[in-house]
Amino acid sequence: MKMSGLFSALILLIIQGALAQRVKVEPEVVSYPGQTVTLRCQFPNPGETQLTQVSWIFERTDMERTNIAVFHPGFGVNYPTTSPLVGRVSFISVPPSLDNPSIQIKDVKMTDEGRYICEYATYPSGNEQGVSSLVMLAKPMNTATTVKVTAGKTPVIVASCESSNGRPAATISWSTPLNGNVTTPRTTNNPNNTVSVQSSYMLAPQPSDNGKDISCVVSHRTMSQPEIFPMKLNVEYPPQVQIKGYDDNWYKGRTNAFLICQADGNPAPTTFTWKTLSGLMPETVQVQENRLAVQKVDDTINTTFICEVRNSLGSGRDQVAVFVREFPRPKGVPTGGVIAGILCVIILVALIATIIVIVRKRQRKNSDGPPTHKPPPPMKTHSYSDRPSSRASLSESQFMYHEEPMTDLSAYHDDKDHHEPSPFSKQTPEKDDRDEDGLMGDVDGYYVTSSASRGSSFMSPAVIV
Ligand SMILES: *[C@@H]1O[C@H](CO)[C@@H](O)[C@H](O)[C@H]1NC(C)=O
Ligand SMILES: *[C@@H]1O[C@H](CO)[C@@H](O)[C@H](O)[C@H]1NC(C)=O
Ligand SMILES: *[C@@H]1O[C@H](CO)[C@@H](O)[C@H](O)[C@H]1NC(C)=O
Repeated sequence: MKMSGLFSALILLIIQGALAQRVKVEPEVVSYPGQTVTLRCQFPNPGETQLTQVSWIFERTDMERTNIAVFHPGFGVNYPTTSPLVGRVSFISVPPSLDNPSIQIKDVKMTDEGRYICEYATYPSGNEQGVSSLVMLAKPMNTATTVKVTAGKTPVIVASCESSNGRPAATISWSTPLNGNVTTPRTTNNPNNTVSVQSSYMLAPQPSDNGKDISCVVSHRTMSQPEIFPMKLNVEYPPQVQIKGYDDNWYKGRTNAFLICQADGNPAPTTFTWKTLSGLMPETVQVQENRLAVQKVDDTINTTFICEVRNSLGSGRDQVAVFVREFPRPKGVPTGGVIAGILCVIILVALIATIIVIVRKRQRKNSDGPPTHKPPPPMKTHSYSDRPSSRASLSESQFMYHEEPMTDLSAYHDDKDHHEPSPFSKQTPEKDDRDEDGLMGDVDGYYVTSSASRGSSFMSPAVIV
């Protein structure tokens, strides 16, 4: 059996090797359903050989052979009605020629896939043929989904990926940091020659796996790049509970003591229940959702508190045994945090003191002498040496004057009106020198229109001093 099969294969190879070079065809033609396919065939340079007739034979499988198109120069063209391609197959040139009897198939179907043999009847060498394989491709429809699972110890399917109605069969792989297993792909052959492939990912899901990344990667001949489906695992688990807030320093009379019940669960926890081991909730305790606050610590708090949290899957709990001390726990050496805190307070106090000193100084100057905020540097250059070159700085100083608040201007003017001897103006006579240069004209203008603000500014320093 095996031997004869091998033998016939060998014969076929020899025949093909000897004759294929005479009948020229394309070895493989690829197409999609619905398209028009051209199958070429030529017998170049027949020489002494007489070409009498050409036939196209369709071999869907090794068993099934059908003539689909025949041409004889004398009798003409015939398309056998038994062919599955009847009505869709035709010679390209009408009438065809024996040296180029190429055919085309319209509206190709998945089931048209197979071998197409261009066979010549010749004299004297007999039949000669060329074989063209038609490969039908079908772009698959790809889908991926995660499966909502409950955390547990047995491996279950957590994600699935399917590539439907493709040809050839798609390849599915998985990309994930999880250490589960990929199931052997399940392949389904459809009647129309397409193939559906399904692959699943199995894992014993842990609560920590919830939200982890998993990607399904589908590769297919019809796609230039694999199609990637990024997903996140959905693992449900009952709440995992932890009570926070007990610092082992709950002493009698302490007021700001509280416990926080932290719970993590999928789906999200719905109810928090606080209990004590004894069953009685002390009176000074206030419970609000996941927070338990103690108004004032006393002996009744010397108990074990339990927090129980539920979600739709079940419940989780944690407990903390509170030990009520007679006195606060003795403090150890100040830690880094405490030292930093003390330093902060010192710096803050120094800062406040500095601000107070500055403010006081300012108020003093406002009432006693010219304001310190008058722009001094431009005045100096102006009054001393470079008078001509200082026009820019002069206008700049004028501009700054316009921006001064009215109250300051009037306060300054008051001083001038009163002709009070101020130590500041004596030390810097150039200031008055500059004022006479016309700058005060602007100031006067403001002064006239702002008598009200002048009055208030005149009053306020007096109140403080
Ligand atoms: C994965 O497969 C290997 C071998 O087939 C098996 O030993 C292992 O337990 C499997 N792991 C899971 C999570 O299914
Ligand atoms: C093949 O058949 C399936 C149904 O079995 C259909 O959904 C699909 O579109 C068909 N594909 C082609 C290329 O004919
Ligand atoms: C608090 O409870 C502990 C046992 O948990 C007990 O040893 C201790 O005497 C109790 N203290 C008071 C003040 O009741």
